[in-house]
Amino acid sequence: MRLPLQQWLIALVATFCSLSAVTASDALVSKAGDTAIVPGWHLQSVMRVSDDMAMLSKPGLNTSHWYRVAARGTVMAGLIANGMYNDTHLFFSDNMENVGDREIFRQPWLYREEFTINPSGDKHFDLITHGITSKADIYMNGARVASKEEQQGSYGGHKYNITTHIQEGNNCLLIRAYPTNYDRDFAQSFEDWNPHPADNGTGVWRNVDISQTGAVSMSPFRVNTDFKDAMNLNGNEEVNVTLTTDLVNHESKIVRVTLDGAIEPPNGGEPIQFARNFRLLPNQKIKASIRVGVKKPQIWWPASWGSQPLYSAHATMFLDDDSQNISDRSRPLRFGIRSAHSSVNSHNDTKFTVNGYPFEVLGAGYGPDIFLRYDEGRVRTIFQYMLDMGLNTVRLEGKQEHPELYELADRMGMMVLAGWECCTKWEGWEYNDDGTGYKWEDADYPIAGAAMLHEAEMMQPHPSMLGFLVGSDYWPNDRATEVYTNALAKMDWGNPIIASASKRGYPEDLGPSGMKMDGPYDWVPPNYWYGDKLGAGFGFGSELGAGVGTPEMGPLKRFMSNDELETLWTEPEEGLYHMSSSISSFYTRKIYNKGIFGRYGKPKSLEDYIVKCQMADYEATRAQFEAYSAHQNASRPATGAIYWMLNSAWPNLHWQLFDYYLNPMGSYFGTKVGSRMEHVAYDYETESIWLINHSIKSKGGRQILIDLIDSNGKKISSTKLKTHTLPTTSKQLHSVSGIGKIKDVGFLRVVLKDAKGKHEISRNVYWLSPKPDVLDWSNSTWYHTPVTEYADLTKLESLPPATVKVKVKSSKVKSQNGWTHREVELENKSKTPAVFTHLNAIDSNGNEIAPVIWSDNYITLWPREKINLALQLEGDVHSWTLELSGRNVRKQTFKEK
Ligand SMILES: *[C@@H]1O[C@H](CO)[C@@H](O)[C@H](O)[C@H]1NC(C)=O
Ligand SMILES: *[C@@H]1O[C@H](CO)[C@@H](O)[C@H](O)[C@H]1NC(C)=O
Ligand SMILES: *[C@@H]1O[C@H](CO)[C@@H](O)[C@H](O)[C@H]1NC(C)=O
Ligand SMILES: *[C@@H]1O[C@H](CO)[C@@H](O)[C@H](O)[C@H]1NC(C)=O
Ligand SMILES: *[C@@H]1O[C@H](CO)[C@@H](O)[C@H](O)[C@H]1NC(C)=O
Ligand SMILES: *[C@@H]1O[C@H](CO)[C@@H](O)[C@H](O)[C@H]1NC(C)=O
Ligand SMILES: *[C@@H]1O[C@H](CO)[C@@H](O)[C@H](O)[C@H]1NC(C)=O
Ligand SMILES: *[C@@H]1O[C@H](CO)[C@@H](O)[C@H](O)[C@H]1NC(C)=O
Ligand SMILES: *[C@@H]1O[C@H](CO)[C@@H](O)[C@H](O)[C@H]1NC(C)=O
Repeated sequence: MRLPLQQWLIALVATFCSLSAVTASDALVSKAGDTAIVPGWHLQSVMRVSDDMAMLSKPGLNTSHWYRVAARGTVMAGLIANGMYNDTHLFFSDNMENVGDREIFRQPWLYREEFTINPSGDKHFDLITHGITSKADIYMNGARVASKEEQQGSYGGHKYNITTHIQEGNNCLLIRAYPTNYDRDFAQSFEDWNPHPADNGTGVWRNVDISQTGAVSMSPFRVNTDFKDAMNLNGNEEVNVTLTTDLVNHESKIVRVTLDGAIEPPNGGEPIQFARNFRLLPNQKIKASIRVGVKKPQIWWPASWGSQPLYSAHATMFLDDDSQNISDRSRPLRFGIRSAHSSVNSHNDTKFTVNGYPFEVLGAGYGPDIFLRYDEGRVRTIFQYMLDMGLNTVRLEGKQEHPELYELADRMGMMVLAGWECCTKWEGWEYNDDGTGYKWEDADYPIAGAAMLHEAEMMQPHPSMLGFLVGSDYWPNDRATEVYTNALAKMDWGNPIIASASKRGYPEDLGPSGMKMDGPYDWVPPNYWYGDKLGAGFGFGSELGAGVGTPEMGPLKRFMSNDELETLWTEPEEGLYHMSSSISSFYTRKIYNKGIFGRYGKPKSLEDYIVKCQMADYEATRAQFEAYSAHQNASRPATGAIYWMLNSAWPNLHWQLFDYYLNPMGSYFGTKVGSRMEHVAYDYETESIWLINHSIKSKGGRQILIDLIDSNGKKISSTKLKTHTLPTTSKQLHSVSGIGKIKDVGFLRVVLKDAKGKHEISRNVYWLSPKPDVLDWSNSTWYHTPVTEYADLTKLESLPPATVKVKVKSSKVKSQNGWTHREVELENKSKTPAVFTHLNAIDSNGNEIAPVIWSDNYITLWPREKINLALQLEGDVHSWTLELSGRNVRKQTFKEK
């Protein structure tokens, strides 16, 4: 995904224009309509200072022994930024254990900031929070503004009236953030994904804002449109856009205001102006809705289906009195015109439509940074990677990050399935015996309600929102469901609401979730996905995968000690600190290693083990996405699959499509092949070929070339087919002939071309054993299905060697949008296939260059075959080396000439 530079700039401006640069002498806010983020904090443990909060929150304190931290960040993030901990060190081996159990993390931490305000006239000030973990007391200039009873939860956003607390000149804000227990508090846990950070994510992890308004304030706009579907659009329609805001009269008299604003079309064009008058009774709160007709609407699409035109809306509220002064301003807002719906089909499986078209979700589960450090550039790369892999949806399971994530998703065309997390306090239901969360009491409902209100307000206007899951492993009870749905309704939520991510049960009010959570989470062979049970390719799998995601050698050495690396391949049943946590079913690689050893042969070295892992990981993700794609219009359709998971919170050994350092690997390229827009896939169960089409437009004649060779490169069969393709459908074609003739290992190449056979649309190679994997379905657990007999791929260990010639070429476009472009030509000079050829771009220090986007990788070349690949490296890269290796290809390096 490439945005033209200009668009990126616009995007950047949009992100930062609400953030005025503040220096110590500037006033944070100085006129009605101003909102500013508290720009930074002094951080200290309560154990190191007086416990007199009134005194500490008065301006003028000497904070020289406090840590200086950014506008938002957990305690650990702040301590790392101050050099108290070193994350490179913490991430290595089991060093994280050494910070684990410290008294200082069982006590509150203070976030303190002083700033200037020069109030004059009749002004109103609000303090706006967006969630503080786990809960907080807030003091200002010696007085308490909010207590921890109200300011609770990572997502509890509140507005506090601080008008009487603000003073001329220097002001001080002090937040006492209480330690977090994932089972007791509405926080953000990592469950068994990784070790828990020592502070459990405690702190002011999201921004805190100060706003100044006149008599009447307005909330951020919410956006609804009456747009339904794009199927019969002729371009001349009009769409009604409704902007909704809550107006509050802060004075005990009647106030009249005018809301004066405009909707600006994407890429310039005539703004659509509007002006509306409102009359508010003393201290009244009203919901103001403004309907604006937008002619010739430009429709927003998920990235794979079209462009992402974004309208912007802004308004200024004037007082209709003698002064005509500004009372408040809207926050900058961009929105898209699109529709997103969900329903359950006759199988009770959830299916989505976007702009009226069936939208098969191909997605993955997002992991934030272990210390919740949000890095815009990193998340942009993650979304670029997702789009590059053909994924269209990111699932945020209770890790909702910040408004910027949704703005990014809007601009990039990434759909978002957000929701609450599993297992902890969030799922402390009387009927949940799996979870460790404390059961909900009366006081918990308003906390959850405030969280839902706040998140709904943040997410509501974004065209990227595909839906919100109010439960994960379990559904909310009826009382919580009512709290959640009321909050969503209050925020004019127009997107799907889904009861949970599993089929365990559902609240009457919401109906069946239509999402299955039947595993697998650990290794299963590729043919699993073509079965008809559990996680196989039908319905909507909310979190599933073969548990793969082994990093390549270079990255592994950055976080594993030599002893751990030795254990990795020599002790296949051992627990590993960089797998899931030690209490988890996924602490060892037992099931995975049994599959690797059983199918590919016992590893002979660490290098050999890593190659085998990459091959297995590639097979696993490819088969999963292919099966879900192949079955998109089957009699029980596959409506969506969320790979578990997209990425990891720290350097990790599994459940990821690229590693923590952003290096793509086997699991990445398997996904990328399996999720192609138009593709031909091999079905391991029926030994046949599927023609897959995810597009909404491409149709017509296609050619398919199917070639099978043996391990020496000798032809077994060769078939050419002519067929037709239709949008958003898949069809099963031909059985592959000669599969029965494979002796040790066979290679199957399937190529999809256009009607004339000129343009190659998809090319892909499978390695096949004459012996299928046999699944023991009836002995399945919630996380895997055992295998009683393994496919035999051991011949891959002794293939005749192949020689691959490499040419690094400069491409037509040398660089674009800050990325360096190159082309690489590979030519197999041998009579035998060059199997699983991996290309790696290395910097002058010998480290993998990341981010990197390869058009394809881990390629198997046919005898004498020539292939061109495109490479993009972020930045202006001059000196790099290409490293090439393969299952039967000797490692070589090439310098660009
Ligand atoms: C603040 O405290 C530090 C250390 O106690 C001291 O060195 C410094 O002079 C103090 N600053 C002021 C302005 O009092
Ligand atoms: C952090 O630790 C790593 C490895 O232990 C070390 O190489 C690096 O210099 C450290 N960084 C800082 C800022 O101390
Ligand atoms: C309105 O604006 C005038 C000048 O523009 C200013 O003097 C006055 O204080 C403002 N009134 C209020 C109520 O803010
Ligand atoms: C973090 O939360 C866990 C419960 O999930 C709890 O056992 C642990 O004590 C907490 N850690 C701290 C430092 O409070
Ligand atoms: C916009 O809303 C008005 C009032 O509900 C309705 O009359 C009109 O038909 C709507 N326009 C479109 C294009 O739906
Ligand atoms: C905020 O507090 C001030 C002073 O107590 C009061 O006059 C004003 O009405 C309050 N505003 C709201 C919205 O409650
Ligand atoms: C779908 O769910 C409804 C409501 O629970 C139930 O009545 C119906 O039997 C289910 N249908 C299938 C095919 O499972
Ligand atoms: C899916 O759609 C394609 C194209 O219309 C059709 O050939 C195929 O039979 C359909 N599959 C099923 C199971 O209906
Ligand atoms: C389940 O596995 C056990 C051994 O692990 C085996 O004895 C049993 O036959 C299996 N069950 C089925 C139904 O295959």
